[in-house]
Amino acid sequence: MYRIAVLTVSDRCSRGEAEDKSGPLISDLFGNRAETVAYEIVPDEVEDIQNALVRFADELKADFVFTTGGTGFAPRDVTPEATKAVVERETPGVSEAIRYESLKITPLACLSRAASGIRGKTLIVNLPGSPKAVRESLAVVFPILDHAKETLSGVTLNCGKETP
Ligand code: MTE
Repeated sequence: MYRIAVLTVSDRCSRGEAEDKSGPLISDLFGNRAETVAYEIVPDEVEDIQNALVRFADELKADFVFTTGGTGFAPRDVTPEATKAVVERETPGVSEAIRYESLKITPLACLSRAASGIRGKTLIVNLPGSPKAVRESLAVVFPILDHAKETLSGVTLNCGKETP
């Protein structure tokens, strides 16, 4: 069972002008494989995003934090910048894998600047904002989560033993 935290980054959802479908979808897609220890909506503001990510990692000690939204080219899209500012080590392979698989589905996948990285023992992963993109991106990430959690906790005994 993973401890996950979900952060929806959207000006409109934070003002109550739109319903957040993507955040709840992340928890739904995990089903009984995860406990959602936090779910919050923040506007596209670097400080708000950073504060939530730090709290989810340092206080709630989530195994995985998933953000949704704010990864594109729009002037207020700053989720990757906020994420890179709070992680200690970036994990480009995770984000590139998501983009690589997503590009097989839509050329628009390259419009996501999503980043990811490690803070403490927490892996933070940016996902794009649409429910469709969330679904497609999480499918790429699911097979690596067990081993990611294991290695984050310092256990490397199983490296190379099994391909998910
Ligand atoms: N990735 C997948 N798998 N599926 C998608 O439909 N949409 C793209 C891209 N990544 C998409 C995707 C689009 S249209 C945009 S603009 C960017 O994600 C950025 O989305 P965001 O600003 O909502 O984070």
